[in-house]
Amino acid sequence: MRIVLLGKPGSGKGTQAAMLSEESGLPHLSSGAILRDEIREKTPFGMQIEEYVLKGEIGPQELITDVVFGYIERKGYASGFILDGFPRTVYQAEMLDERYRPGMGVLIDVPDDLIVDRISLRLTCADCDAIYHGTSRPPASSGICDSCGGKLEQRSDDNAGAIRKRLESYRNEIQQVIDMYRDTGRLLTIDGTSTPGEVYKSLKNATMNR
Ligand code: AP5
Ligand code: MG
Repeated sequence: MRIVLLGKPGSGKGTQAAMLSEESGLPHLSSGAILRDEIREKTPFGMQIEEYVLKGEIGPQELITDVVFGYIERKGYASGFILDGFPRTVYQAEMLDERYRPGMGVLIDVPDDLIVDRISLRLTCADCDAIYHGTSRPPASSGICDSCGGKLEQRSDDNAGAIRKRLESYRNEIQQVIDMYRDTGRLLTIDGTSTPGEVYKSLKNATMNR
């Protein structure tokens, strides 16, 4: 099963993908996490896209698509995955359909007024990318990842300027992607405003029990 999670920055794509991955056994791939790893490792690609990620802009499309597809191939994930953050544009959605056509796109619907609180209090593990939140999902020990013991930090693009830009990029690009999934009968929309556990129940209903 190939599933795509769509939604604004901070809508909970990463949180929900991790929960669904754990229960379903499907691998979770976050394009943002792949890009952040490349930046951390200072690869030539990482250095090329760092500025875009820091500013919250969509980077070079073809290159990012190649890297995400290369990752899917290398890891042997072609037959099933939960993809989060990709596709973001019509180009990416068309390329994905050509190569690994997903069976469904799940849109996690959250109004803008919840986004800033969610993102500004987010903490992410520098080692395993696990996601926490200062109030809704605090770690057991302050600053330390429950899963791997890594150091929790704030993402460098979780600042007011980049958040604004990410929301703007999202608005400019995503509607056509949503329309593509709707027009091909693959769009499911879930309410992302309740607790992570409640949202997960809807996601599970929409995907695993379908
Ligand atoms: P990416 O990493 O994909 O960032 P994003 O789309 O902005 O989404 P986020 O990761 O910020 O949010 P999320 O929906 O995963 O929410 P989360 O679960 O963490 O991309 C980063 C950048 O990389 C982009 O700006 C771009 O530059 C580049 N990029 C990535 N993909 C690209 C592509 N395909 N093409 C080109 N460029 C690309 O939750 C957020 C917080 O809320 C957490 O603290 C969490 O604990 C909390 N939370 C989650 N759910 C709930 C809930 N139900 N109730 C309360 N709190 C909750
Ligand atoms: Mg994410």
